[in-house]
Amino acid sequence: MKIITPETILSPTEQLSGMSIAFDTHIQAIGQLHELLEQYPDAEFIETPLHTMVMPGLINPHVHLEFSGNKETLKYGSFMGWLSSVIEHREELIGNCNEQCMAKACDDMLVHGITTFGAVSSYAMDLEVAANAKQKVVFFNEVIGSQATMADTLYDDFMSRLEASQQVQREGFYPAIAIHSPYSVHPALIKRALKHAQQHKITTSAHYMESPAEKEWLESNSGDFEPFFKEFLKQDYAVNTSHEFLELFRGKPTLMTHVVQANAQELQELSKEGHTVIHCPISNRLLGNGSIDLDQLDANHVPWIMGTDGLSSNYSLDLFEEMKIALFTHTDRDLLTLAQELLSNATINSAKALGLNTGEIAVGKEADFLVMDLQASPNEQLPIHLLLHGYNLLNIYINGNEVT
Ligand code: BEZ
Ligand code: FE2
Repeated sequence: MKIITPETILSPTEQLSGMSIAFDTHIQAIGQLHELLEQYPDAEFIETPLHTMVMPGLINPHVHLEFSGNKETLKYGSFMGWLSSVIEHREELIGNCNEQCMAKACDDMLVHGITTFGAVSSYAMDLEVAANAKQKVVFFNEVIGSQATMADTLYDDFMSRLEASQQVQREGFYPAIAIHSPYSVHPALIKRALKHAQQHKITTSAHYMESPAEKEWLESNSGDFEPFFKEFLKQDYAVNTSHEFLELFRGKPTLMTHVVQANAQELQELSKEGHTVIHCPISNRLLGNGSIDLDQLDANHVPWIMGTDGLSSNYSLDLFEEMKIALFTHTDRDLLTLAQELLSNATINSAKALGLNTGEIAVGKEADFLVMDLQASPNEQLPIHLLLHGYNLLNIYINGNEVT
């Protein structure tokens, strides 16, 4: 047993002062130091500076490790321009990012306080790296391919990647399934993959309603996607409408990434089926997709959490930076309330959506937390300051082990 006595515990937005935490792999007790010392007289006492704060480790539910090689290769500004540049430079991007490069992406996330991440894996090239990462990992094996003739081959390839990820025997590694998007996956393939997910209680994720181009293609088989599908895939119409796509997910609560372009009816369907939106504001801005309307999500009771997306559409894998950008994107929201929501959505609410027992400093939760030096006593606006100031991270604990 270990005991830590920070000046402040922030969990996720409630500020406690003068309390200690006793933990092994899990948080066992929170209380006055003398009580905890009586309860656990042999506990190891962790020394901390005067103005230390403990908060839950951050959870980044959506990243693409395999595309971590991008810095200046991909074209930003519009979704179609970006997608075309991904297709043009795919080999070079993937080739440029070896295991060392993907491991660096995991380490960068850790340095920024991310103790759990969801890796969307297209080719399983990131499997070893994710398996060896210090963090907890939800490993989303991706299903992609809109051509019916390819469906069986693609499903077999997906299943063999899923099975390989299920061979990984380590605590905190969770194989999962990602459906790429409504426009890029044939419904037969989606059905099979989701049936498997449902039967085996596997966590699922999908990109949904990311760009204006996707919306127009799904709604009216026209727009920027039209020449792309005609030229590359010989398709005149979308393989799923938006409605048909959502119908396939009935009864299977899923993490839906982006959802910038969804209308009220689609948001109601997301809410009814218990789906959660992953909000990635930096990616949305860089790819010209607009910014999500958080008021509409709230009005339709759709829960949302925060994600970075991959380095193919971001300049860092830093969830504090992502929250800061969100703070400046949604300017009509009350500043403190939004900062508090962002912190909750990057911790406890993300853990809930991923089905993990973490994301909170509370008895019974896995001991995944950040120890920070605030260098002064915090006031009631701590959530805002936390997003603005990049405080010094002293230590990170995952399952009670000090990992940095
Ligand atoms: C496809 O495989 O059909 C596809 C992949 C990426 C974007 C669009 C379509
Ligand atoms: Fe993504």
